[in-house]
Amino acid sequence: MEKKQRIAVVTGSSSGIGFETSLLLARNGFYTYATMRDTLKSEKIKKIANKENLPLEVLSMDVNNDDSVRNAIHKIIDEKKKIDILVNNAGYGLFGALEDISIADIKQQFETNLFGEIRTIKEVLSTMRKQKNGIIINITSIAGLVGIPAECIYVSTKFALEGLSESISYELQPYGIKVILMEPGVINTNFVSSIKFSDKTDDKSQQTLSKQEKSEINYSGNNIKKKSSSYYSNTIDTFLSHYYPAMKNAPLPKEVATVILEAIKNSSKSSEYLFRYIIGGDAKTFAQAKKNMSDSELHEFISNKLLK
Ligand SMILES: NC(=O)c1ccc[n+]([C@@H]2O[C@H](COP(=O)([O-])OP(=O)(O)OC[C@H]3O[C@@H](n4cnc5c(N)ncnc54)[C@H](OP(=O)(O)O)[C@@H]3O)[C@@H](O)[C@H]2O)c1
Repeated sequence: MEKKQRIAVVTGSSSGIGFETSLLLARNGFYTYATMRDTLKSEKIKKIANKENLPLEVLSMDVNNDDSVRNAIHKIIDEKKKIDILVNNAGYGLFGALEDISIADIKQQFETNLFGEIRTIKEVLSTMRKQKNGIIINITSIAGLVGIPAECIYVSTKFALEGLSESISYELQPYGIKVILMEPGVINTNFVSSIKFSDKTDDKSQQTLSKQEKSEINYSGNNIKKKSSSYYSNTIDTFLSHYYPAMKNAPLPKEVATVILEAIKNSSKSSEYLFRYIIGGDAKTFAQAKKNMSDSELHEFISNKLLK
């Protein structure tokens, strides 16, 4: 019985999608390593896991750090001798216009959102290859399919992760390793309060507003004081005037966790294995537009939706 228990590793489990996914997998019998870079943030998940007697263990992992990733994965392999599921979830958003964003911030964004995932994947591969099975789930975004104003660098990391995932799926297939992409639209998590803005983007106060405050901003009332040191502030602010309110009615991270569990279950039946899961009405609308429209139609469609 113990031998058959499947082992899952989730990155970025301190909040949002990672938090809910770790709990849901553990509730469904997976021995789940809920990894996070700051284990001081583990109190809530540990409390729930203890109360429900879940097979969940918190482990320290900073995806930006080679040693941290290596140590965590080695510990899991030493303990369990296998890893069945890797959910690459850790990430954050860097927003702003390209001209305003420093190269250092851009590198940092790639460090977490792309290299972080590459690190964990590389670390689990030899084990998954030897065991001749494994599922790697990468949380990209609708921003991995469609270019979005004000998010150029975030979008670049997610497009890169999509390309990586599509490509490695060929080399991993002979070893029974499946790659799956989750492409959510706006999801109501701490993502919005963790967004890093370029220095010139706007009033710094936006960076310290809570998620609740951001979703309640009344842009028509123009109650945000702008620093306006950016040539692109109109574009960024108009985008944010759509983005923040969208958070209000956005799906909760539990919905993404449910789709992740479903994807894992489906992947064992070859007829139902899907490479991509698009989550949320907004993501589905944008993905459909990308599929059916010419480039110029898509440009106009997105401009009308996000910049008017
Ligand atoms: N929310 C959305 O609208 C949305 C839409 C599409 C895709 N996504 C993607 O979904 C994923 C999860 O985001 P979320 O919405 O759940 O946001 P969240 O609540 O802010 O969670 C992000 C998680 O990533 C962790 N993280 C950040 N940098 C890390 C690092 N260097 N090492 C380890 N963990 C790190 C955070 O840890 P700390 O608590 O220590 O910061 C946190 O646990 C991200 O990849 C994001 O791009 C989100």
